[in-house]
Amino acid sequence: MTAAMRALVLSAVVLAGAASAGQAIRPADMAAKPRVEIDYALHCQGCHLADGRGMAGKVPDFRDSLGRFLEVPGGRAYLVQVPGVATSRLDDDGTARLLNWLIARVGPPRTCRAAPFTTAEVARLRRTWLRKARPLRDGLMRQIAAQPNMAKGAKLPDCPA
Ligand code: HEC
Repeated sequence: MTAAMRALVLSAVVLAGAASAGQAIRPADMAAKPRVEIDYALHCQGCHLADGRGMAGKVPDFRDSLGRFLEVPGGRAYLVQVPGVATSRLDDDGTARLLNWLIARVGPPRTCRAAPFTTAEVARLRRTWLRKARPLRDGLMRQIAAQPNMAKGAKLPDCPA
């Protein structure tokens, strides 16, 4: 994306936010947007939509299961190796920051405690990205569905690596 295009998309994002809040657009609004939100808007929102609901039948709904992938073996790697993440133009640092923000925002794991993604981890995992995500995703979703419910207040174990 050229710098001009980037600026255009950026102002559209800011405009949309300002219009919904019924406010005038000030340059300060742009600076006030956290970098991670702008990254999401530029690189992910086209498919996943602003609230992560995705597109029925095409793009999965983050709100159902995003953090839950961390509960099952292989799920942590999947979150980085899925094509939309691994092949995005965001660098490793930006990708780790974005994933950690997204998971905290739309739903952390429910049955274990996950460590945040690190830049080095993203760099290592994204090298071998998934050409076909669906078969692996279907298997992970079956494992997630089989996870036992944790008792309220139970001390959660660490998530699998
Ligand atoms: C071109 C559309 C598209 C873009 C752009 C895109 N994704 Fe995705 N994303 C998908 C689809 C479709 C899937 C389901 C797996 C698959 O078929 O690739 C998915 C799956 C995922 C998953 C795994 C969760 C799940 O439920 O399967 C994560 C995490 C994810 N995307 C994050 C991102 C992030 C972060 C960005 C921006 C850096 C992004 N995606 C950009 C289409 C997209």
